[in-house]
Parts: sequence; C-alpha cells; structure tokens
Amino acid sequence: MSRRPGSTLLDWPTAVSAIPTPFLLVDVEAMERNIARAARLARGVGLRPHFKAHKCTRILERQLAAGGCSGVTCATAAEAKILAEAGFPDILVANEVVHPAALAELAAAAGRTSVTVAVDCEDHVNRLEATASEHRCRFGVLLDLDVGQGRCGMVPGSDTVLHVAQRVARSETLTLEGLMGYDGHAQHRGYRERTDITVRTGALLDVERRRLDAIGLSPRVVSGGGTGTLEPAADNSVLTEIQAGSYVLMDADYGRVGVPFGPALYCVATVISRRSAAEAVADAGLKALSAEDGMPVAVDPLIDVVGISDEHVTLRTDTASRLSVGDALALIPRHVDPTVNLHGTLHALHEDDRVERWAVDGRVDR
Ligand SMILES: Cc1ncc(COP(=O)(O)O)c(C=O)c1O
Repeated sequence: MSRRPGSTLLDWPTAVSAIPTPFLLVDVEAMERNIARAARLARGVGLRPHFKAHKCTRILERQLAAGGCSGVTCATAAEAKILAEAGFPDILVANEVVHPAALAELAAAAGRTSVTVAVDCEDHVNRLEATASEHRCRFGVLLDLDVGQGRCGMVPGSDTVLHVAQRVARSETLTLEGLMGYDGHAQHRGYRERTDITVRTGALLDVERRRLDAIGLSPRVVSGGGTGTLEPAADNSVLTEIQAGSYVLMDADYGRVGVPFGPALYCVATVISRRSAAEAVADAGLKALSAEDGMPVAVDPLIDVVGISDEHVTLRTDTASRLSVGDALALIPRHVDPTVNLHGTLHALHEDDRVERWAVDGRVDR
C-alpha cells in the first residue's frame, strides 16, 4: 500500500475509510517485508522477537513463521501467561519478576511451555525457586547484566554474577541457561554509535561468558540486542539470539536513526479544523498516540505535527497543502510500544484491500 499513506481518505479502500478515527492501521505488506528482512539479517544468530512492541499474537505468529527464531521474548509475567495460553513455545521474560501474583502467572505459563526469566540478585532466584516448588514447575534463568543502560542488571565483572550463577546452578528447580545483556542505550542512535556500543557490549558479554566457563557453568544462551542493533549484533558472535521488537511495525524514532526497516504502522486521524492556510487540527491526541519521545510524524511532507493534547494533534501546513476538513491523515507514531498499548485493535490492511481486525491481545487490565 505504499501509494496510500499520506493520501486523502478518498484514495483509501472503502473498508479503511469506514473505520471511525483515530485508529491504528497496519500495512501488512510492509510488515511482512520487515519480518523477512529481520529474518535474513539475523540469520546465523537467531531472533527471539519481543512481543511487547505490538502485543498482538497474530503478528507474533507471522514473525515465527518467517523462521530462524529461538523462541519469543516478552516483558511481563502477564504477557508470558497470555503467550503460553495462546500456544507459543519457549518464552523468555526479559525482565525481573518479583510480585507474588506475577510469579504465579509465570508458573501458569511454565505449566504449558518452557519459561526463562532474567535475574539480577539472589532474592530473584529465591523467589523463582519458591514459586517453582509451590507450583511444581521449572524455570530457566538468565543472568541479567547491566551493559551500560543503567536499568536492571548486575555489574559485569562483579563477584555477584558468579555468586548468583552458582546459586542458580545448585537449584533443583531452576536451570541456568546463560546471560542477558540488553544495550538499550545503543538502540536509538546513529549507525556508527550503535555499532560501537554493540562491539563494547559484545566484549563485556564475552568476558562474562569466559568467567562462567571457568567455573564450569558455560552459558548456552547469550541474549540481547534490539531493532537498532540487529544489524551489527548479527555480526557479533557472542550473542546467540537478538530480542528485537520494534522492527516489525517500526516507528518514527527508529525511522529517524535509519534502521533497515520501513514504516508499517499508522495512526489514521481526520482533519477537524482548518482555520488558516498554515494551520490544521486532527482528531488523534495522546489517547491514541504516545508522545514521550516527541511528536508523531505526518507522512505527508507538507504537514508538520507541532502539538498534541488529549484528543487533538495540531498541524502546521505548507501553503501548498490542500488539506481540508474531513480529510484523512496518516501519522507515524513516534514510539510503537506505548502507542499500540493505547488500542484494543489493529486494523490490518492487506495488499488486496481486505481489512482484518487483529486484537492487541497481550494487553492486560488489572
Ligand atoms: C530487555 C529488552 N530487550 C529487547 C528490547 C527490544 O527493543 P526494540 O523494540 O527496540 O527492538 C527492549 C526494548 O525496550 C528491551 O527492554
């Protein structure tokens, strides 16, 4: 559908024009191109696609169908439970899990498929072990390392890493699978910086891998990377899998730094005001688009998004723009994960103009 985004509603298939705005539209053809590209780029390493980017099992199925995946990644125990119930195998929760209710969700998932969880201290190990005993299940464990992002993770080179590794290895219900080192600080930068940080991350992980080798606990898995580092990380022999997520639908922030994937997700809005040749307002605000990383980007180059509030985006238009009240506007979200999380449905536009409703079925209401 490359001819459609940015055009007026009249140029779009009737099935799209009939959907009340604002809504999220997936360009299925562009999405499939991204999936195929990632599978090709990650060949030899392995992808473990991150569910948190889109929370849509219909999309995750297509990612796995492209081949070369070592399993799936998610961010929360609730997502793990949903994925296990939907029949997805080999789930990595690339995060620390602590709350008793969340641990019970992990156990429910582990009752159906293999579940691996990140830890960065002995307390995490104790909680996982107690949960496994209570629910008669097993968990895999990755030792989470802070490779520079400054979020969770143990300090590389510290005694804690070896201590926690040995603690897991002694457990009867946990299996030490390996290491995790997600370099979030590398992802949204220019190519050179992304590559340099990937090399540094690889070196840190390699040292940790050797330290584990030396105590007889060689890691089977070294997990990390994301959309921004997929290309350089695929050449980084230390990682055994890449946890990329955003590549499949993409967003304007990744578009800005030039990753090798194209936009496949649009928020479609309607122009509701055109009070001067230079100004317009459309009906998609913060309830339809996240903006913590900046404004969404209009596909039409004659339109700049200059403001966003609860129900509105404010647009500055070039005088050549013929945008009118009632026209449709395609906006590329600045950040895919929190944008999708605002919607219950993705409207999937196929090449033959068919539109399917795909549930954002990984969302949870507490
Ligand atoms: C632990 C972890 N792994 C992988 C990713 C994947 O990132 P992306 O969506 O940028 O590919 C993220 C994103 O925040 C993450 O937190």
